[in-house]
Amino acid sequence: MPEGPTIRNMFAAVAPGYDRANRALSLGIDVLWRRRTVRVVDVVPGERGLDVCTGTGDLCFALQHAGATMVGSDFCVPMLERACRKKAQHQDGAAPSEFVAADALALPFAAASFDFATVAFGIRNVSDPLLGLREMARVVRPGGRVVVLEFSKPRVPLLGAAYWFYFRRILPRLGAWISGARNGAYRYLHDSVTAFPEREGFLDLMRQAGLQRPAVRLLTGGIAAIYRGEVAH
Ligand SMILES: C[S@@+](CC[C@H](N)C(=O)[O-])C[C@H]1O[C@@H](n2cnc3c(N)ncnc32)[C@H](O)[C@@H]1O
Repeated sequence: MPEGPTIRNMFAAVAPGYDRANRALSLGIDVLWRRRTVRVVDVVPGERGLDVCTGTGDLCFALQHAGATMVGSDFCVPMLERACRKKAQHQDGAAPSEFVAADALALPFAAASFDFATVAFGIRNVSDPLLGLREMARVVRPGGRVVVLEFSKPRVPLLGAAYWFYFRRILPRLGAWISGARNGAYRYLHDSVTAFPEREGFLDLMRQAGLQRPAVRLLTGGIAAIYRGEVAH
Protein backbone atom coordinates (compact mmCIF):
# COMPACT_ATOMS: atom_id res chain seq x y z
CA MET A 1 0.00 0.00 0.00
CA PRO A 2 1.57 3.37 -0.98
CA GLU A 3 2.15 5.85 1.85
CA GLY A 4 -0.09 8.90 2.42
CA PRO A 5 2.08 11.50 0.61
CA THR A 6 2.28 9.27 -2.51
CA ILE A 7 -1.50 8.87 -2.50
CA ARG A 8 -2.01 12.59 -1.95
CA ASN A 9 0.27 13.48 -4.87
CA MET A 10 -1.45 10.94 -7.08
CA PHE A 11 -4.87 12.48 -6.39
CA ALA A 12 -3.50 16.00 -6.83
CA ALA A 13 -2.46 15.02 -10.37
CA VAL A 14 -5.84 13.39 -11.07
CA ALA A 15 -7.93 16.23 -9.58
CA PRO A 16 -8.42 18.37 -12.74
CA GLY A 17 -9.97 15.49 -14.69
CA TYR A 18 -11.39 13.49 -11.77
CA ASP A 19 -15.14 14.15 -12.21
CA ARG A 20 -14.99 13.80 -15.99
CA ALA A 21 -13.10 10.48 -15.70
CA ASN A 22 -15.49 9.18 -13.01
CA ARG A 23 -18.61 9.77 -15.12
CA ALA A 24 -17.08 8.39 -18.30
CA LEU A 25 -15.37 5.31 -16.84
CA SER A 26 -18.39 4.21 -14.81
CA LEU A 27 -20.87 5.17 -17.59
CA GLY A 28 -22.56 7.39 -14.99
CA ILE A 29 -23.32 4.47 -12.63
CA ASP A 30 -21.22 6.06 -9.85
CA VAL A 31 -23.97 8.72 -9.51
CA LEU A 32 -26.57 5.99 -8.89
CA TRP A 33 -24.29 4.27 -6.38
CA ARG A 34 -23.93 7.49 -4.39
CA ARG A 35 -27.73 7.92 -4.49
CA ARG A 36 -28.15 4.42 -3.05
CA THR A 37 -25.61 5.29 -0.37
CA VAL A 38 -27.66 8.34 0.62
CA ARG A 39 -30.67 6.03 1.02
CA VAL A 40 -28.69 3.67 3.24
CA VAL A 41 -27.56 6.60 5.42
CA ASP A 42 -31.28 7.43 5.83
CA VAL A 43 -30.75 11.08 6.73
CA VAL A 44 -33.05 12.77 9.22
CA PRO A 45 -33.19 16.42 8.05
CA GLY A 46 -30.96 18.58 10.23
CA GLU A 47 -28.55 15.78 11.08
CA ARG A 48 -24.85 16.62 10.98
CA GLY A 49 -22.73 14.39 8.76
CA LEU A 50 -19.07 13.97 7.89
CA ASP A 51 -17.92 12.66 4.51
CA VAL A 52 -14.24 11.67 4.75
CA CYS A 53 -12.02 11.30 1.66
CA THR A 54 -14.66 13.53 0.09
CA GLY A 55 -12.57 14.35 -2.98
CA THR A 56 -14.57 16.71 -5.17
CA GLY A 57 -17.51 16.42 -2.76
CA ASP A 58 -20.12 14.46 -4.74
CA LEU A 59 -21.39 12.33 -1.84
CA CYS A 60 -21.25 15.35 0.47
CA PHE A 61 -23.53 17.34 -1.85
CA ALA A 62 -25.91 14.39 -2.30
CA LEU A 63 -26.27 14.12 1.50
CA GLN A 64 -26.73 17.89 1.77
CA HIS A 65 -29.62 17.62 -0.73
CA ALA A 66 -31.13 14.92 1.51
CA GLY A 67 -31.24 17.46 4.36
CA ALA A 68 -28.00 16.91 6.26
CA THR A 69 -25.60 19.64 7.34
CA MET A 70 -22.38 18.34 5.87
CA VAL A 71 -18.67 18.62 6.43
CA GLY A 72 -16.40 17.06 3.78
CA SER A 73 -12.77 16.31 4.62
CA ASP A 74 -9.84 15.18 2.49
CA PHE A 75 -6.06 15.53 2.67
CA CYS A 76 -5.68 16.51 -0.98
CA VAL A 77 -6.18 20.26 -1.36
CA PRO A 78 -6.56 20.29 -5.19
CA MET A 79 -9.51 17.86 -4.82
CA LEU A 80 -11.06 20.07 -2.10
CA GLU A 81 -10.61 23.18 -4.27
CA ARG A 82 -12.80 21.52 -6.87
CA ALA A 83 -15.37 20.64 -4.21
CA CYS A 84 -15.44 24.28 -3.09
CA ARG A 85 -15.92 25.50 -6.66
CA LYS A 86 -18.89 23.14 -7.05
CA LYS A 87 -20.68 24.64 -4.02
CA ALA A 88 -22.34 27.24 -6.24
CA GLN A 89 -24.10 24.48 -8.23
CA HIS A 90 -25.46 22.98 -5.02
CA GLN A 91 -27.32 25.88 -3.43
CA ASP A 92 -30.57 24.29 -2.30
CA GLY A 93 -31.59 26.44 0.65
CA ALA A 94 -29.88 24.02 3.05
CA ALA A 95 -26.72 24.90 4.94
CA PRO A 96 -23.89 24.77 2.38
CA SER A 97 -21.38 21.94 2.77
CA GLU A 98 -18.12 22.92 4.47
CA PHE A 99 -14.81 21.49 3.36
CA VAL A 100 -11.83 20.85 5.64
CA ALA A 101 -8.31 19.66 4.80
CA ALA A 102 -7.67 16.69 7.10
CA ASP A 103 -6.08 13.26 7.17
CA ALA A 104 -8.65 10.50 7.67
CA LEU A 105 -6.20 8.88 10.11
CA ALA A 106 -6.29 11.86 12.51
CA LEU A 107 -9.62 13.63 12.11
CA PRO A 108 -9.63 17.11 13.70
CA PHE A 109 -13.11 16.66 15.19
CA ALA A 110 -14.31 16.01 18.72
CA ALA A 111 -15.60 12.59 19.70
CA ALA A 112 -19.32 12.03 19.01
CA SER A 113 -19.67 15.31 17.10
CA PHE A 114 -21.55 13.88 14.07
CA ASP A 115 -24.73 11.84 13.60
CA PHE A 116 -23.13 9.82 10.80
CA ALA A 117 -19.93 9.50 8.80
CA THR A 118 -19.55 8.30 5.21
CA VAL A 119 -16.73 7.48 2.85
CA ALA A 120 -17.05 6.72 -0.87
CA PHE A 121 -14.22 5.00 -2.76
CA GLY A 122 -11.85 6.38 -0.16
CA ILE A 123 -11.21 3.86 2.63
CA ARG A 124 -9.29 1.61 0.18
CA ASN A 125 -6.82 4.46 -0.36
CA VAL A 126 -6.18 5.16 3.32
CA SER A 127 -2.85 3.62 4.36
CA ASP A 128 -4.39 2.12 7.53
CA PRO A 129 -8.09 1.37 6.76
CA LEU A 130 -8.78 -0.01 10.25
CA LEU A 131 -7.54 3.20 11.87
CA GLY A 132 -9.58 5.16 9.30
CA LEU A 133 -12.74 3.28 10.33
CA ARG A 134 -11.90 3.76 14.03
CA GLU A 135 -11.56 7.50 13.45
CA MET A 136 -14.94 7.63 11.70
CA ALA A 137 -16.51 5.67 14.58
CA ARG A 138 -14.87 7.97 17.15
CA VAL A 139 -16.36 11.17 15.71
CA VAL A 140 -19.89 9.69 15.40
CA ARG A 141 -22.27 9.78 18.37
CA PRO A 142 -23.39 6.52 20.04
CA GLY A 143 -26.09 4.93 17.88
CA GLY A 144 -24.96 6.91 14.80
CA ARG A 145 -24.05 5.32 11.47
CA VAL A 146 -20.84 4.72 9.56
CA VAL A 147 -21.53 4.03 5.87
CA VAL A 148 -18.91 3.01 3.31
CA LEU A 149 -19.28 2.82 -0.47
CA GLU A 150 -16.45 0.85 -2.04
CA PHE A 151 -15.61 -1.28 -5.04
CA SER A 152 -16.19 -4.99 -4.68
CA LYS A 153 -15.47 -7.95 -6.94
CA PRO A 154 -18.31 -9.34 -9.05
CA ARG A 155 -18.75 -13.09 -8.87
CA VAL A 156 -21.40 -13.47 -11.58
CA PRO A 157 -19.45 -15.51 -14.23
CA LEU A 158 -20.11 -13.52 -17.46
CA LEU A 159 -20.31 -10.11 -15.83
CA GLY A 160 -17.16 -10.92 -13.84
CA ALA A 161 -15.14 -11.82 -16.95
CA ALA A 162 -16.27 -8.70 -18.84
CA TYR A 163 -15.63 -6.54 -15.77
CA TRP A 164 -12.08 -7.81 -15.18
CA PHE A 165 -11.20 -7.41 -18.84
CA TYR A 166 -12.44 -3.80 -18.76
CA PHE A 167 -10.92 -3.07 -15.37
CA ARG A 168 -7.49 -4.58 -16.06
CA ARG A 169 -6.97 -3.89 -19.75
CA ILE A 170 -9.08 -0.91 -20.79
CA LEU A 171 -9.68 1.29 -17.76
CA PRO A 172 -6.01 2.09 -16.92
CA ARG A 173 -5.44 3.46 -20.47
CA LEU A 174 -8.84 5.10 -20.84
CA GLY A 175 -8.55 6.65 -17.36
CA ALA A 176 -5.12 8.12 -18.13
CA TRP A 177 -6.41 9.49 -21.42
CA ILE A 178 -9.65 11.04 -20.07
CA SER A 179 -8.20 12.44 -16.84
CA GLY A 180 -4.92 13.54 -18.43
CA ALA A 181 -3.03 11.96 -15.47
CA ARG A 182 -0.10 9.89 -16.74
CA ASN A 183 0.98 8.78 -13.26
CA GLY A 184 -0.44 5.26 -13.19
CA ALA A 185 -3.42 6.31 -11.04
CA TYR A 186 -5.83 4.08 -12.95
CA ARG A 187 -3.44 1.12 -12.82
CA TYR A 188 -3.34 1.74 -9.06
CA LEU A 189 -7.17 1.72 -9.03
CA HIS A 190 -7.14 -1.83 -10.44
CA ASP A 191 -4.39 -3.01 -8.08
CA SER A 192 -5.92 -1.47 -4.97
CA VAL A 193 -9.39 -2.93 -5.66
CA THR A 194 -7.84 -6.36 -6.25
CA ALA A 195 -5.94 -6.25 -2.95
CA PHE A 196 -8.62 -4.70 -0.71
CA PRO A 197 -10.85 -6.81 1.60
CA GLU A 198 -14.46 -6.96 0.47
CA ARG A 199 -17.76 -8.44 1.71
CA GLU A 200 -17.05 -10.63 4.83
CA GLY A 201 -13.45 -9.37 4.93
CA PHE A 202 -14.54 -5.76 5.16
CA LEU A 203 -17.35 -6.56 7.62
CA ASP A 204 -14.65 -8.06 9.86
CA LEU A 205 -12.68 -4.83 9.65
CA MET A 206 -15.82 -2.93 10.70
CA ARG A 207 -16.24 -5.24 13.69
CA GLN A 208 -12.60 -4.71 14.66
CA ALA A 209 -13.27 -0.95 14.52
CA GLY A 210 -16.01 -1.54 17.11
CA LEU A 211 -18.93 -1.01 14.73
CA GLN A 212 -22.06 -2.93 15.54
CA ARG A 213 -24.56 -4.74 13.30
CA PRO A 214 -22.29 -4.46 10.24
CA ALA A 215 -24.15 -5.23 7.02
CA VAL A 216 -23.37 -5.16 3.31
CA ARG A 217 -25.53 -4.51 0.26
CA LEU A 218 -24.09 -5.38 -3.16
CA LEU A 219 -24.65 -3.08 -6.13
CA THR A 220 -24.60 -3.81 -9.89
CA GLY A 221 -23.84 -7.52 -9.63
CA GLY A 222 -21.24 -6.97 -6.91
CA ILE A 223 -19.07 -4.38 -8.71
CA ALA A 224 -19.63 -2.08 -5.73
CA ALA A 225 -20.88 -2.53 -2.18
CA ILE A 226 -22.38 -0.37 0.54
CA TYR A 227 -21.40 -1.25 4.12
CA ARG A 228 -23.22 0.08 7.15
CA GLY A 229 -22.42 -0.19 10.83
CA GLU A 230 -23.52 1.52 14.03
CA VAL A 231 -21.50 3.10 16.79
CA ALA A 232 -22.00 1.34 20.13
CA HIS A 233 -24.15 3.04 22.79
C1 LIG B 1 -11.12 7.86 -5.25
S1 LIG B 1 -11.19 9.39 -4.41
C2 LIG B 1 -12.86 9.40 -3.86
C3 LIG B 1 -13.43 10.78 -3.77
C4 LIG B 1 -14.91 10.87 -3.48
N1 LIG B 1 -15.25 10.34 -2.17
C5 LIG B 1 -15.76 10.23 -4.55
O1 LIG B 1 -16.60 9.41 -4.24
O2 LIG B 1 -15.56 10.56 -5.72
C6 LIG B 1 -10.29 9.06 -2.92
C7 LIG B 1 -10.00 10.28 -2.09
O3 LIG B 1 -9.46 9.85 -0.85
C8 LIG B 1 -8.54 10.82 -0.42
N2 LIG B 1 -7.67 10.22 0.60
C9 LIG B 1 -6.90 9.10 0.50
N3 LIG B 1 -6.27 8.86 1.66
C10 LIG B 1 -6.65 9.84 2.51
C11 LIG B 1 -6.33 10.14 3.86
N4 LIG B 1 -5.48 9.39 4.59
N5 LIG B 1 -6.90 11.21 4.44
C12 LIG B 1 -7.75 12.00 3.73
N6 LIG B 1 -8.08 11.79 2.44
C13 LIG B 1 -7.53 10.71 1.84
C14 LIG B 1 -7.82 11.25 -1.69
O4 LIG B 1 -7.18 12.48 -1.56
C15 LIG B 1 -8.99 11.27 -2.68
O5 LIG B 1 -9.57 12.54 -2.78
